[in-house]
Amino acid sequence: MSEADAATMEASLIAVADAGIDIRIPLFERFFAAYPERRASFISVDAASRRMTDETLQMMLGLAQGETWVWPLVAELVFTHRSYGALPIAEYDAFIDMTVAELGAAAGDAWSAHTTAAWQRHADALKAMIRKARAEWASAMPAGAPAVAE
Ligand code: HEM
Repeated sequence: MSEADAATMEASLIAVADAGIDIRIPLFERFFAAYPERRASFISVDAASRRMTDETLQMMLGLAQGETWVWPLVAELVFTHRSYGALPIAEYDAFIDMTVAELGAAAGDAWSAHTTAAWQRHADALKAMIRKARAEWASAMPAGAPAVAE
């Protein structure tokens, strides 16, 4: 938990909201450019992109704020995503990194190396939590656990 990081992260979210930029559009374009074969897994990109973008940002901010709901939400996310195939961990990492990168691009002058560092710390914590959730599902429920592709 870091109150200073949370304040820095919130300021950048407000700057992007004030600029009226919806980062999910370039974020999903970037994600599908990197992983074109994944496009077909989405029934509704419009609906899923709102939730995936919003919840990824909220989870990182929640980690900075020491929120205890982050862990159960991550565990649920990893389990529900089993329906979308064996998602490689590298795609989770990339989606998280691209979310931070697009936020930075949209924030313009409101973004600095300090802002990158604040988001990066909690991006890394979220990546570690996703790995932990995948490992725990695999160990607790081998038959029904999400497929863990590397
Ligand atoms: C931290 C990362 C992620 C978060 C927080 C997240 C969150 C979500 C949420 C909340 C939904 C909507 C579920 C629903 O309404 O039923 C969703 C759907 C989906 N997610 Fe993610 N997701 C993440 C990463 C990924 C990654 C890396 C992939 C790989 C491609 C992925 C693929 C999908 C697909 C295919 C859907 C269903 C879309 C559809 O049916 O149209 N997600 N995700």
